[in-house]
Amino acid sequence: MVLLRICVAVAVFLEAVSAASLGVVSTEGGLVEGVNIAVATNRYVDVFKGIPFAAVPGRFEKPKRHSGWSGVLKAKEFKPQCLQLNMLMTQVSGSNDCLYLNIWVPHGSQVSSNLPVMVWIYGGAFMMGSSMGSISQGVYTYDGQEIANRGNVIVVSLGYRVGTLGFLSTGQSDLPGNYGLWDQQAAIAWVHRNIRSFGGNPSNITLFGESAGGASVSFQTLTPHNKGLIRRAISQSGVALCPWGVIENPRKVAEKVAQRVNCPTDSRMAACLKSTDPVALTKAGAISIQSTPSQPMIENMDLAAVVDGDFLPDHPSNLFHNAAAIDYIAGVNDMDGHIFTALDIPSINSMLVDTSIDDLKAMLGAFTKDKGKTGMEKAFSTYSANWGSSPSRETIKKGAVAMGTDYMFLVPTQAALYLHAKRATTGRTYSYLLTEPSRLAGIVSPYPSWMGADHMDDLQYVFGKPFSTPDAYGAKYRNLSSYMIAYWTNFAKTGDPNQGGSSVPVAWPKFQSSGEQYLEIRSNMGQGFVHQDMRLRFVTFWTSVLPSLPTITKSE
Ligand SMILES: *[C@@H]1O[C@H](CO)[C@@H](O)[C@H](O)[C@H]1NC(C)=O
Ligand SMILES: *[C@@H]1O[C@H](CO)[C@@H](O)[C@H](O)[C@H]1NC(C)=O
Repeated sequence: MVLLRICVAVAVFLEAVSAASLGVVSTEGGLVEGVNIAVATNRYVDVFKGIPFAAVPGRFEKPKRHSGWSGVLKAKEFKPQCLQLNMLMTQVSGSNDCLYLNIWVPHGSQVSSNLPVMVWIYGGAFMMGSSMGSISQGVYTYDGQEIANRGNVIVVSLGYRVGTLGFLSTGQSDLPGNYGLWDQQAAIAWVHRNIRSFGGNPSNITLFGESAGGASVSFQTLTPHNKGLIRRAISQSGVALCPWGVIENPRKVAEKVAQRVNCPTDSRMAACLKSTDPVALTKAGAISIQSTPSQPMIENMDLAAVVDGDFLPDHPSNLFHNAAAIDYIAGVNDMDGHIFTALDIPSINSMLVDTSIDDLKAMLGAFTKDKGKTGMEKAFSTYSANWGSSPSRETIKKGAVAMGTDYMFLVPTQAALYLHAKRATTGRTYSYLLTEPSRLAGIVSPYPSWMGADHMDDLQYVFGKPFSTPDAYGAKYRNLSSYMIAYWTNFAKTGDPNQGGSSVPVAWPKFQSSGEQYLEIRSNMGQGFVHQDMRLRFVTFWTSVLPSLPTITKSE
């Protein structure tokens, strides 16, 4: 018995000394200590949770450097998310003290060095979201462990201010806006200055993000403030050119918020807002969650980036020269618009109720309102060109989803890819379309049998959920997940999603190697999954036909 105990003790001791771990790491702010996890034989991941990359932010101010700490900071637990409203816009949670990041570092039997680094930026409409272990259906979506371990890269996830505290702007220097984007930038700069101590290579930083996070990735590549800090970037379902990415009349939103917190809307507005309680300010950013075909949800979203003359010196479409040396992947899910369009037109999800063509026209009318009735009619005839005289129920419902997907995600992403490729010097350009049908298609309301990949469906595959929660996924999803992790991490290593040590099912050609090529990503992908000119007729309509129509005077 005693002998057995000694044997166990020796075994535990050997295990402890043989684990490859960074131990205590020195950063510019002081020492940090994470947690070492054994993930397989001779395979370890060091996890650092909640490292401060900036000081507690001042209200409506850019983030400032953290003053540091003495002793060893235990980076073993997540910090609070940034203050935000819940989905129903009824409650505020989180903290203003939220500028922290997490780091996952993979090791084999030896401690790693010079690894590529992938920095994750979460989405959430610039209103919500968190990297800090926020749980959805029992799963921590943005756990970096699978990507780090399977792709052999360092994964970092950052926090940034959202809602009014992140994005409120008067359009003037008294409240310039974009604070959340400055937070992201401060985190990127921190990673560049400090990641070498964690075994990372600061010349090999790739940003990736989804939805508002994908648009954020795009903004970070377009601002002149990241020169030399970013080598590569991946925008999933969101780019700076999305109609929800830049707010054109921020002052109107600031006045609405001011009125809700009893601030004057004259020259005293900014000073009053700056001295208002952050929870009250967050609450005052609530948007309507009611929508109709003629008042689509997308138009309720009124906090996002602004052209401030500093972070964004000009409209994003004029800033692509700043991304000329950055390798760029951008793509969408084939039904990215479904989740939103089905809020505006609920009958889309009903198997029993027809969706009226008038609803589609009302929604298109909202998307094309600058161009009046002509714009709407031209849009409708573009979409219904092949519908014949009596389109089926499914044709109309899918048509509505296509309109929302094109307008909110797919077309702006194509526009960003064209501009990136056009302005690129050394930067490469790659385009993808995820078409894996939603796992709930035809099984669970509200998912019709014809569903493709909905908004956010990509997250589970990129973050390796079919591996970390295998019971919830069939084998084909592990294939899909391994493909996405392979393409993403190869790209982070080499700038080419096909090269970097992980094998891929299909060679993904550059966007402009011959025509505008893109990769269709799906669990059963193989040869025949490279296509050209994604939805060209619709891209042409939204980027060229519609803008060339005369703009009608806005009635404000
Ligand atoms: C997963 O990929 C492997 C290798 O290509 C293949 O043999 C297998 O059939 C795939 N599994 C599923 C369920 O599609
Ligand atoms: C980036 O990382 C990859 C993989 O470790 C390496 O081959 C490459 O040389 C690195 N690039 C730079 C610029 O250091």
